[in-house]
Amino acid sequence: MNHLQIAIDGPAGAGKSTIARKLAKNLNITYVDTGAMYRALTYKILKDKIEINNIDSIIETAKNTNILLIEDELYLDNQHITDEIRSKEVTHYVSYIAQIPELRKILVELQKKIADNNSVVMDGRDIGTFVLPNANVKIFLTASIEERAYRRYNELLLKDQPVNLQEIKKSIEERDKIDSQRDYAPLVKAEDAIELDTTGLSIDEVIEKIIHIIHRDK
Ligand code: CDP
Ligand code: CDP
Repeated sequence: MNHLQIAIDGPAGAGKSTIARKLAKNLNITYVDTGAMYRALTYKILKDKIEINNIDSIIETAKNTNILLIEDELYLDNQHITDEIRSKEVTHYVSYIAQIPELRKILVELQKKIADNNSVVMDGRDIGTFVLPNANVKIFLTASIEERAYRRYNELLLKDQPVNLQEIKKSIEERDKIDSQRDYAPLVKAEDAIELDTTGLSIDEVIEKIIHIIHRDK
C-alpha cells in the first residue's frame, strides 16, 4: 500500500512541530516528531552519566534503547516520558549527540519503519534528504532568527520558565550551526523541497499554504 509522506524540515523554532502536528490532525494521519527521538536518547545518555565524548558508549546505549513514539506520547525503555526531554540540558547537548552517524542510523531505521506502515507528517532536519527522500511533499520551513527566538521565548514564558531572549537566540544559533555543519545528514533544504519563510505568518496561515501545496503536488 502506498502511504502519504509529508516531510517538514528546517531550523529550530521555525514552527515545524506545531505545524506538522496540526497538519497531521487535519489530514487524519500520523505525526512523527523525530526531534523527540534524538532528545530521548540524549536524555538517557545524560541520566546514565555517559561521558559526552565517549562515542562507543553512546552508540552502545543507542543500540540498547527502546524508543516507542505514538503521536505525542514517547516511551523510553517502556517508560512514558514527557517534559524531561525538553529541559535546557537536553536542548544543549542534543545537537552534539545527533552528529554521530551510527546513532542517527538507528533512529532513521525506526522512522522509516513508521512511515512504511502509516501515512505520516514527519518533522526534523534530514527528513526530505535522508529519511523520506521520496516523500510526496517536502517543505523547508524557515523564519528570521529574531522571530524564531521570540517564539521560543513566548513559549517558555507561557510555561512559567525563566527566560532570557538573548540566551535563547544564542542557543538556537549554536544548535543550527552544529546541525547544518555536521558531516553526516546535515540540516539542508532538499533540492525538491519548497521553502516557506514563515516570518510574520500565523500558524493557520502556514497550514493554509502547506495544504495548498499538498493539493497541488500530491
Ligand atoms: O523543536 P526544536 O527545534 O527545539 O528541536 P527538535 O526538533 O526537538 O530537535 C532537537 C535536535 O535534534 C536538533 O537540534 C538536532 O540536533 C536533532 N535532530 C536531528 O539531528 N535530526 C532530526 N531529524 C531531528 C532532530
Ligand atoms: O519545531 P520547531 O522548533 O521548528 O518550532 P515549534 O516548536 O513548532 O514552534 C515554536 C513556537 O513558535 C511555538 O510556540 C509555536 O506555537 C510558535 N509558532 C508561531 O508563533 N507561529 C508560527 N507560524 C509557527 C510557530
